[in-house]
Amino acid sequence: MKFEETQTYTNLASSMAAECMDGAKYQWFADMAQQEGDACLAETLKQIATNEMAHAKVFMDFILEKEAEPAKDVDISLSYPLVGGKMPQRLQAHIESELHQGEVVYPAFARTASKEGFEDIAKAFLRVAEVEQAHHAKLKTLQQKMQNKQLYKTEQKSLWKCSNCGYSHSDVKAWEECPLCGKPQGFVVLKIEQSAY
Ligand SMILES: [Fe+2]
Ligand SMILES: [Fe+2]
Repeated sequence: MKFEETQTYTNLASSMAAECMDGAKYQWFADMAQQEGDACLAETLKQIATNEMAHAKVFMDFILEKEAEPAKDVDISLSYPLVGGKMPQRLQAHIESELHQGEVVYPAFARTASKEGFEDIAKAFLRVAEVEQAHHAKLKTLQQKMQNKQLYKTEQKSLWKCSNCGYSHSDVKAWEECPLCGKPQGFVVLKIEQSAY
């Protein structure tokens, strides 16, 4: 059977398209968060957008690698959550869609790939599923923190950094106004990993 006649081929194509849409969506959301003055949220959304585009590339690479002949076009149907409103609510449908991808869609695609004899593709679907579950958890935490006005507070001391001037300081909450450049709290990002440099 030709690769393009398998269900895995169609699943890779629809996953690639869905990941591209997700990448664009999170990039727009990052811009919105930036405009609304939340650098912390914008930073996370930008990272997620980068992840989604990388997932699209993984799926596209499999299509190109497995195919002997030029790819045929695939008709795909995708539902897309179009939710307006302010930022914490706006994220809701997308938080659910991350969970659906991570717990339902990609594990099912992995099982199909396995059945059709594509173990490498099955593993990739499962690894991407793990990332989508992590996206779900991260976005849900951020949404709850925004709703409870806790976005700039942590239980343990954290390293906060001004995305404008680079000033950083460890505390259980971020400053209201950067002590170095004076930019408001919205410019603060949480520095999770401390660089060795
Ligand atoms: Fe993804
Ligand atoms: Fe995701």
